[in-house]
Amino acid sequence: MNPKYTPLFQPINLRSGIQLDNRVVMAPMTNWSSNPDGTVSDEEVAYYSRRSNGVGMVVTACTYVTANGKGFHGEFGSDRDDLIPSLRRLASAIKEQGAKAVLQIFHGGRMCPPELVPNGEIVSASAVPAEQGTVSHQVPRALSATEIQSIIRDFGESTRRAIEAGFDGVELHGANGYLIQQFFSPHSNRREDQYGGSLEKRLSFPIAVIDEVKKVVAENAKQPFLVGYRFSPEEPETPGITMADTLALVDVLASKELDYLHVSVTEFWSTPRRGVEDSRSRLEIIQERVGDLVPVIGVGSIYTADDALKAIETGVSMIAIGRELIIDPDWIEKVRQGKESEIETKLKNDAQSRLVVPDPLWQAIVNRPGWFPIED
Ligand SMILES: Cc1cc2nc3c(=O)[nH]c(=O)nc-3n(C[C@H](O)[C@H](O)[C@H](O)COP(=O)(O)O)c2cc1C
Repeated sequence: MNPKYTPLFQPINLRSGIQLDNRVVMAPMTNWSSNPDGTVSDEEVAYYSRRSNGVGMVVTACTYVTANGKGFHGEFGSDRDDLIPSLRRLASAIKEQGAKAVLQIFHGGRMCPPELVPNGEIVSASAVPAEQGTVSHQVPRALSATEIQSIIRDFGESTRRAIEAGFDGVELHGANGYLIQQFFSPHSNRREDQYGGSLEKRLSFPIAVIDEVKKVVAENAKQPFLVGYRFSPEEPETPGITMADTLALVDVLASKELDYLHVSVTEFWSTPRRGVEDSRSRLEIIQERVGDLVPVIGVGSIYTADDALKAIETGVSMIAIGRELIIDPDWIEKVRQGKESEIETKLKNDAQSRLVVPDPLWQAIVNRPGWFPIED
């Protein structure tokens, strides 16, 4: 290995006692490939297995914690005990290759396609439809306080199942406009009870989910089990989450004894659109705010080993790669073996079976121009 890349290969000890062999994480990526009954499919397991032998940790695609949170066709479930064997299959496939396995737990809220949820009824913090990212634009039903408390427990139940299935941790999906973010967002949360009204009250659902999940871990885990949290720093809508709101969120998250914060952006060097007077990247601003309180994972268009080095030199503890690991499952091994110049950074049109990519994921990629770099 070229010694300049050593910072990427430093082990890291997380608060829970989990140790990662290196600083590169597989980013969570939905693959639309699970079975209709909510179990993981053979193709999906093979896809993860192919990508788990180099990175320190794999964060799985998101999994719904309850039936009315299913956000994608071909999404696997963690909402029932009979799905524990399916979850165990996935955890084992990842761990057998040497990476730590982290389950991303999720509720899609108003972003769920109505045809995937019971009675076609989508739910959210308030009855405000999403402006983008959905096909339906259906007006969601505002959850009652009792239903909210039930969903909080569902996050805990999925965590218990992850523990029983042998995962090394869970990541709370508080990003990309889904239910946890919908509660924090002034766009989707217009409530006037204990779950909305002020910034502090908009934080109460995310905090309650964290507290419940940590309680379940304390009661059930017999070995170290991590809890991470993913969030998106800003929303384009008005009203919507600003960078100033995000810094308030980060302050609270940093006090919750989490294993890491994972910032969801598609470009590591993206800068704030509003809310702060600062020309640095969102990740640098967040890292400075967090300091040593909790490790931060940076992500977004880190295609080469030099991109990764530059990113880690900002002070973030870890970096995640997503599309890059679909395009080249040997990304990390190539760097380790001094072959970083051989990393493939564009998807080859005829590479689906060589790269072990399930059909629905491959179709999603090729049918959305500009999403992935594709070789001419
Ligand atoms: C196919 C695909 C599916 C994704 N699904 C998820 C998901 O389930 N959960 C999540 O938090 N982010 C998801 N993301 C976002 C990625 O985790 C990541 O933040 C984004 O792709 C930018 O990183 P990259 O440039 O390394 O791909 C997805 C991205 C892609 C490309």
